Amino acid sequence: MTQTDRYDNALSTQSDDARQSYVAGVDGVLGATYGTVQAFERAVLVDPGFALGHVGLARAHMMSGDMAAARIALRQAETLRGGLSERELAHIDLFGLLLSGQASQCRAAVREHVLSYPRDAMVAQLCTNVFGLIGFSGHAGREAELLAFTNALLPHYGRDWWMMSMHALSLCETGQINAATELMDQALDLNPVNANGSHFKAHALYEAGQTQTGMSYLADWLVGYDARAVLHGHLSWHLALWALQTGDTERMWQIIDDAVAPGAAQGLPINVLTDTASILYRAELAGVDVPDERWRQISAYAGRFFSETGQSFADIHAALAHAMAGDADRLAHVIATAKGPVRDLVEPVARGWHAIAEQDWQRALNDLTPVMASHERLGGSRAQRDLLELAYLNILLKLGHTDEARRLVRSRRPVLTAQAPVAGLDQGI
Ligand SMILES: [Fe+2]
Repeated sequence: MTQTDRYDNALSTQSDDARQSYVAGVDGVLGATYGTVQAFERAVLVDPGFALGHVGLARAHMMSGDMAAARIALRQAETLRGGLSERELAHIDLFGLLLSGQASQCRAAVREHVLSYPRDAMVAQLCTNVFGLIGFSGHAGREAELLAFTNALLPHYGRDWWMMSMHALSLCETGQINAATELMDQALDLNPVNANGSHFKAHALYEAGQTQTGMSYLADWLVGYDARAVLHGHLSWHLALWALQTGDTERMWQIIDDAVAPGAAQGLPINVLTDTASILYRAELAGVDVPDERWRQISAYAGRFFSETGQSFADIHAALAHAMAGDADRLAHVIATAKGPVRDLVEPVARGWHAIAEQDWQRALNDLTPVMASHERLGGSRAQRDLLELAYLNILLKLGHTDEARRLVRSRRPVLTAQAPVAGLDQGI
């Protein structure tokens, strides 16, 4: 009997058990829950000839940061090409492109694939979400591009919790907060354990300035979320950020030390680096004393996991860590070797962090001013890129440009006007 996945795509396995495990694995990938590796492992244990089970396993390994295991799983899938459908063959090719770092080719191939197979969620998910192939494309207008992508797919999915949550995310990141919240609540009603759903419900609450509501919502939701799951560290970062915003510094440090910083977080290195560097600097901006040792720790982590440049969002956070830790050599390396589609912005941001660390505020202003209008290209969510907005705001305050600082926050990030945690802003406004 022909098996199908949850989206009615035919699967080349005869085993109902393998199919069930595959569907569980796919749902785990789509909902960012823990246990996806185990689910796909069960699928291929039951049916070792199930090619998409091996591809799914490769994807699950990628999401847990184990690229070596992902390569082994994908090689196994390669040996099973005979008899596969065109759609299934495309999975092997597409995830091969992803695993070999050919992001732009993979993005183009996903776009092409979903024209024929719009309900192939396992492929479509590569281009959705903030950390997806569109999110990290470096394109100007990539937030609108993501909205167009999910908007085109949405009608094909009916009331599917995953697709609804992805479109809600796209709405949130283009400033449609009410519509995002309404759709996300519906998606979470259908599947309350979808971490991509709770994540961007938290974003919508952040964008709406609902700090207390956001804190209690996310703290409650996190109780049932496995600390080994891919978004645990990042969701904890959101919570730490809100603790900072409410002035609860003790709670902020506790969350960082329990779930965000190197050695505590179990997520992907890009989250550990960007979340830790970000919360440390945002704490400094708020006037919190950040021990030098914390900067040295995250700088060393960046040096270990991101010794070479090329991932712009990681690169700007690595540069921040190196600048604040006083590691001139590593910082110079980021500046000298910045590469990839956003290298033109990585370099001035890295120079800006250097100037900030040296408290040369005029130089910092000169470095960051040309970046502010287009920092969307660097990647990350709006909440994450508030790191740059608030750093820039602080530079203006340091230089005595109080009126300009006031106009800046009101025009660019009005939600932060009343609650931007930047020391000195209250007096300025
Ligand atoms: Fe986030």
